[in-house]
Amino acid sequence: MRVDLKGKVVVITGASAGIGKTAALLFAKKGAHVVLAARRLEQLQAVDRDIAAFGGKALYVSTDVAEREQVQRLLNATLEHFGRVDVWINNAGSGLVGTVEQTTPEEMDRLFRVNYMGTFHGCQIALQQMRRQNSGHIINISSMAARLPLALHASYAATKSAQWIFTEALAAELASTPIKVSVALPSFTETDFSRAMIHKIPDSSKSMMHGASAEQVAQKIVQCAERPRPVVMFIPFPKLTLMFFDLFPGVWGFIMRKYILIRTDGKGVPPPPPHP
Ligand SMILES: NC(=O)c1ccc[n+]([C@@H]2O[C@H](COP(=O)([O-])OP(=O)(O)OC[C@H]3O[C@@H](n4cnc5c(N)ncnc54)[C@H](OP(=O)(O)O)[C@@H]3O)[C@@H](O)[C@H]2O)c1
Repeated sequence: MRVDLKGKVVVITGASAGIGKTAALLFAKKGAHVVLAARRLEQLQAVDRDIAAFGGKALYVSTDVAEREQVQRLLNATLEHFGRVDVWINNAGSGLVGTVEQTTPEEMDRLFRVNYMGTFHGCQIALQQMRRQNSGHIINISSMAARLPLALHASYAATKSAQWIFTEALAAELASTPIKVSVALPSFTETDFSRAMIHKIPDSSKSMMHGASAEQVAQKIVQCAERPRPVVMFIPFPKLTLMFFDLFPGVWGFIMRKYILIRTDGKGVPPPPPHP
């Protein structure tokens, strides 16, 4: 059954930029009341103004998803303002490009605190209200890197993998309730994500590949809210493609060797850093 988003309350983390911002605008255009969350207040205010400009309703709440009390404050502000939560999208995320050997424990910890723990807090806290309402839809934005091991992004991919499997297990736990749970696995998307991530190796001078636009990914997220589906992927024939790489892992290995060369301008994996 199709969900009419008009008047629905949609919370989006990471709504100050990229996929989250674009999704917020699309939800607002559908008549949803949107709650915008991220750390950068000025960017949130700009999205809020864009939504108000076409007569939409929004609320912005400065939130670091790694801090549980800030996620709780996000729910409290949403309830004070709109009284309910229909859709909660855990989209906030950050990345790191570099080898495992280059990654510090502090960087790994921070990635987990934002990408995985941020999703954990978001789900538990959204469920406080969804259980009271006995309705709602949680959509977690993971990544295709959760399913296909992306060289030079091991730490990021690990957080996205954890987020993906956590979401699938949560969906199973809630299967007998009216609450829906979905996971989206975008592939490379042209946003500021690469620029914003921690760089342990310099940016390549060559462009990596042509990605999807934030608009294309956000459209599919909105469609998932309208017609809930357990998994949303953005590659052609996703099940067949994943099965192909499972059956022929050497092909993915070959693609990764090429990827490393492109990403490092032909230098290959950097030598390990000296031991401290
Ligand atoms: N772009 C891609 O190629 C791609 C591919 C697959 C999956 N994804 C996933 O899609 C999601 C959105 O990425 P994007 O491409 O739209 O990236 P983006 O343009 O860099 O946006 C990331 C958003 O997350 C927010 N954010 C980062 N850390 C946060 C924190 N600690 N607390 C709250 N908000 C935080 C940022 O806002 P503030 O800085 O204002 O806090 C920003 O709004 C991420 O989860 C990412 O892993 C992206």
